[in-house]
Amino acid sequence: MATFFNKPMLSCLLFTACLGLCFLSSVAELERFWQPVKADGSLGFLVVGDWGRGGHYNQTEVALQMGFVGEKRDIDFIISTGDNFYEDGLTGIDDPAFNESFTNIYKAKSLQKQWYNVLGNHDYRGDVEAQLSPILRKRDSRWLCLRSFILNAGDIVEFFFVDTTPFVDKYFTDPEGHTYDWKGVSPREDYLSNLLKDVDSALKASTAKWNIVVGHHTIKSAGHHGVTEELVTRLLPILEENKVDVYINGHDHCLEHISSTDSQIQFLTSGGGSKAWRGDVKWWNPEELKFYYDGQGFMLVQMTQRKAKIVFYDVFGNALHKWSISKEICSVA
Ligand SMILES: *[C@@H]1O[C@H](CO)[C@@H](O)[C@H](O)[C@H]1NC(C)=O
Ligand SMILES: *[C@@H]1O[C@H](CO)[C@@H](O)[C@H](O)[C@H]1NC(C)=O
Repeated sequence: MATFFNKPMLSCLLFTACLGLCFLSSVAELERFWQPVKADGSLGFLVVGDWGRGGHYNQTEVALQMGFVGEKRDIDFIISTGDNFYEDGLTGIDDPAFNESFTNIYKAKSLQKQWYNVLGNHDYRGDVEAQLSPILRKRDSRWLCLRSFILNAGDIVEFFFVDTTPFVDKYFTDPEGHTYDWKGVSPREDYLSNLLKDVDSALKASTAKWNIVVGHHTIKSAGHHGVTEELVTRLLPILEENKVDVYINGHDHCLEHISSTDSQIQFLTSGGGSKAWRGDVKWWNPEELKFYYDGQGFMLVQMTQRKAKIVFYDVFGNALHKWSISKEICSVA
């Protein structure tokens, strides 16, 4: 084949291919955002998941309580663990669901803060690019959704948002009649290995006091979906090796706290943004399972360099579970 090209042509081709590769690898790096913290060195945020149902299934009631707690605790931002729009994501940037399930639901003053969103498997059943689109960010300036990204909140905490849906085999091998929008994810294996590499190197470079990883799918869960084996195999070892403090997910429509006995990682599920009450809870080692609630609600997290506190709230605003952990501050004498 090389006989078709003279030497300068060939090197030009190689050069172009090389440029393409360099471009690809720089694109693969995770985009980074900065979230200011309060003057007293603290921050607070809410976590909600699995929510977009036009206000139905208590979504409006959960939103109302998020507003009250957000006001009282003076939160700085909100995290969504994905499945932002049911059943099949957004149809496009003009899908009224964006208004009906987001803008017009989370109306409280305290929720007019930045939202950091990941995608869930239901979002991948629609137009993924629509949720990532800057046009939606303009329409509602709170909205920020990327496949995977990093967020620094002062030097208190660094968040690593990970696109977990492409890890799950069954969406590819047995999609159960659903279609998924895999544009931008193929070739799948390259996508996954690049993502894992990026998360690993970003975690290694982190200088924040706390490291929190956020994804849609479960790693440890006693709920309906249970553990996600692909994440246990591929993502969990990276979290353990890098001494991540907390993994936060949705996917199981419940509120849940599992404290690993093998590592320091806390596994927190906040997937109670709307439809819940599945009624199928699997057995889990009671030494690890600190809390499980099969209903609607959300989570509050308050942090300083020294301390992290979590509280799970139900649809009435009752605090169901509280937990906190402290860290030594190393002082240089
Ligand atoms: C709404 O919340 C209440 C209180 O938890 C619960 O009894 C009811 O079943 C929920 N409704 C739906 C549709 O999930
Ligand atoms: C969304 O709702 C707002 C009012 O809350 C309205 O001004 C706007 O036109 C709506 N946008 C779309 C795309 O439906």
